[in-house]
Amino acid sequence: MSCVRLIPNATVPVIEPSTNAPVQIEPAEFVPPWTDAGHINVNINFGIVEQFSEGLYSSPNKTFEELVTNAYDAGAHRVWVHIPDKLNADGAIVSVIDDGESMDVAGLQNLWQIGQSTKRTRPSPLASRKPVGRFGIGKLATYVLANELTYVCKKGGEFLAATMDYRKVTGRLAEAGQVVLDVRQLTESDARATLMSAIGDGEPLESLFGPSAPSNWTAALMSSLKERGLRLEQGRVRWILSVALPLNPQFQLWFNGTPLASSKADGTKI
Ligand SMILES: Nc1ncnc2c1ncn2[C@@H]1O[C@H](COP(=O)(O)OP(=O)(O)O)[C@@H](O)[C@H]1O
Ligand SMILES: [Mg+2]
Repeated sequence: MSCVRLIPNATVPVIEPSTNAPVQIEPAEFVPPWTDAGHINVNINFGIVEQFSEGLYSSPNKTFEELVTNAYDAGAHRVWVHIPDKLNADGAIVSVIDDGESMDVAGLQNLWQIGQSTKRTRPSPLASRKPVGRFGIGKLATYVLANELTYVCKKGGEFLAATMDYRKVTGRLAEAGQVVLDVRQLTESDARATLMSAIGDGEPLESLFGPSAPSNWTAALMSSLKERGLRLEQGRVRWILSVALPLNPQFQLWFNGTPLASSKADGTKI
């Protein structure tokens, strides 16, 4: 499969951990309190975030392409993109949810290795799919739209949540830096409540928690929206997703509850 994404050719510098006490980042406000499930050390500075998000992903559409690509690479068959009607309402959340292999604590740690991707060195979850991602920076595209990126994951019968709050990341490109993300384990009903605050009732909530719920799923939730997140246009994002989608019966995408038909005839690109 080929890809219409912007492919960066810059090398991502390796960030050394800071010797100062790292800033600890708790899951976002909308995630209910429950058990601590571990911590993720993220070697990152603000220079990296700026250079590899706003500098690279000029269009907010790229954020969706990166997240949908991650879903595809995770072997997902279904992806649900949701942009709320009232983006400026308190607590508005923009989301991309998929039923791919998802992440446990080690997987979340791997997610937050900046500039390193293991996609090409481990077996793809679906043998028929070649991975698209390769640079380990795609998730930083979310910084264009939001201050916070929360992953809620269902894997191995457990529900986990961790948030990156870009506002808490400091330091210039060449500087050492580190933040620590608290990983929280949720009960199934708390995970449901968390997703409900993002996407509301009905579908896909029922599919994700009902009797035929997938054994794994991942929700990437963007909250505390920035100017460009607040200005998202549902119609434009829907169109971009439909022209960039693979025509593949094994990869179905919904936009705000409605299945998207790909407008591509050859079905080769996402
Ligand atoms: N939706 C997802 N489901 C499962 N794993 C994911 C998902 N999104 C990201 N990941 C994991 O996080 C890693 C980093 O993602 P990203 O920053 O987009 O870099 P890349 O796609 O180049 O590897 C991926 O390689 C993958 O292991
Ligand atoms: Mg990626």
